[in-house]
Amino acid sequence: MHTSTTRNNDKTMESDLSLEFLRVVEQAAIACAHTMGQGDRHLSDQAAVEAMRREMDTVPIDGTIVIGEGERDEAPMLFIGEKVGMAQNSKHAGRTFDGVDIAVDPLEGTNLCATGAANAIAVLAASEHGGLLHAPDLYMEKLVVGPSSKHLVDLDAPVRENLRAIARSLGRQVDELSVVVLDRPRHEELIAEIRATGARIRLIGDGDLSAGIAAAVAGSGVHAVMGTGGAPEGVLTAAAMRCLNGEIFARLVVSKPEHEERCRAMGITDFKRIYKSTDLACGKNIIFAATGVTDGTLMKGVRFFGDGIRTSSLVMQTNPHRIRFIDSIQVYPGPSVKIRF
Ligand code: FBP
Repeated sequence: MHTSTTRNNDKTMESDLSLEFLRVVEQAAIACAHTMGQGDRHLSDQAAVEAMRREMDTVPIDGTIVIGEGERDEAPMLFIGEKVGMAQNSKHAGRTFDGVDIAVDPLEGTNLCATGAANAIAVLAASEHGGLLHAPDLYMEKLVVGPSSKHLVDLDAPVRENLRAIARSLGRQVDELSVVVLDRPRHEELIAEIRATGARIRLIGDGDLSAGIAAAVAGSGVHAVMGTGGAPEGVLTAAAMRCLNGEIFARLVVSKPEHEERCRAMGITDFKRIYKSTDLACGKNIIFAATGVTDGTLMKGVRFFGDGIRTSSLVMQTNPHRIRFIDSIQVYPGPSVKIRF
């Protein structure tokens, strides 16, 4: 029987857990990076999931997965509702742990890793209990922009108006913008509309979460993300936007009775609602941690250099408001291993 208690009726997240979560995403990234280019996305995903699950139980929390690998029957690990963290270990009976809700994507961009393409990441977001929307694994329409344009765009505005507003806010011409769009047949019309404005487009095979983070970081070369992608990735993007002062505008794609049922099961009844980052990730204490698996816009991929493993991560939090780009080296044991700058 587990008798560990949760601190202050589990509404708080008092300790700084950001570096604990850094370890979790680093280990997931390293595990799946070993499979890079093997052409087996399931193998890559499994490696990331297993490593993330293992490391998660060393984090001093009473954690609950709110966005994960799916329902319990289809996901053996990191399923929605699964309890994680040190509080699950009877060794720590009697200790008090923060109650924490966690959204995970152990490998965002499974195909990217399987083919060695850019921008695969291992990622999670955490918050005090109730701080992350329990979104069903449906599609979501998204518009992601950085701090300077967030008050000037609207998910339902014509594409050309949004692009003009973004260009104006950045002091440039529309044809100097670059917009990231997932390369999918469903985006044919959207792509034609963007092309008609003269804006530049970066079509990506996968990974609208990495692209969303980049859109909120000046100098990344990404000015907006448009189109429909996964709702779980939308919640993770929202957590990142809370830290970066960017914005996501999002609406679930509910087009079948079965979708409605899945929404209702998660307490969502307004299917047309446009969500913003504070709706998707409303927590006071948001932590976001990601490690590059393959080389990407903001983070390098995992590098195995013979004497150790080097990772590049982004760790952010709202309270205290802090953004850290962290370069870590795990040094292999041995008296003469060499570290290079
Ligand atoms: P995986 O990590 O599960 O492979 O998903 C990657 C991704 O491209 C997301 O970035 C995006 O939100 C979603 O899939 C798009 O879904 P679909 O591939 O069905 O268009």
